[in-house]
Amino acid sequence: MDVACTPSPATPGFDPRDLRRALGSFGTGVTVVSTLAADGRRVGVTVNSFSSVSLVPPIVAWSLQCRSPSLAAFDGCGRFVINVLALEQLPLSRRFASPLPDKFDGVAHHAGLAGLPLIDGCAASFQCRTVQRHEVGDHVLYLGQVEAYAHRPGAGLLFCQGRYAQGVELDAA
Ligand SMILES: Cc1cc2nc3c(=O)[nH]c(=O)nc-3n(C[C@H](O)[C@H](O)[C@H](O)COP(=O)(O)O)c2cc1C
Repeated sequence: MDVACTPSPATPGFDPRDLRRALGSFGTGVTVVSTLAADGRRVGVTVNSFSSVSLVPPIVAWSLQCRSPSLAAFDGCGRFVINVLALEQLPLSRRFASPLPDKFDGVAHHAGLAGLPLIDGCAASFQCRTVQRHEVGDHVLYLGQVEAYAHRPGAGLLFCQGRYAQGVELDAA
């Protein structure tokens, strides 16, 4: 798959930084999306654009900045793993959001389908095959079919208004 992502002109009346703050009002979980590069390197990126799309068939989505050095690995592999971070994995969110030469160095993980890395201790994992890829503005949107998944009880890490958070139950129903 080609990496093109032609830069778009700014949209008049929209300040991207203010738009980002507004979008940040929508709280999310935090994931590390992982894959294998063609040379066998383990690659991972902190992502909160993850969402579920369809249950039958099971399809999930996430998006990656066009300028990401990890883009070629996700395109080349055609597979990815969504690692949903647990509360105590906050340091992993920071680690995988940093431009380190080997983000997996010292991170406990094991090999899943096609040898892709699954991070140990996550709240959930979804092993996916890329079924669609769309260049949308300054991001590439990936849709993946879930081929295997796992989850465990325990709180997931949350992210809202640019800050990490933990959930507090408001409705016990
Ligand atoms: C909580 C959080 C959520 C993020 N979500 C995304 C996302 O959905 N897509 C994206 O491209 N970058 C996202 N980022 C930024 C990337 O993690 C960061 O740019 C990272 O360096 C990308 O890895 P790379 O340098 O290997 O491309 C997020 C960062 C944080 C801290």
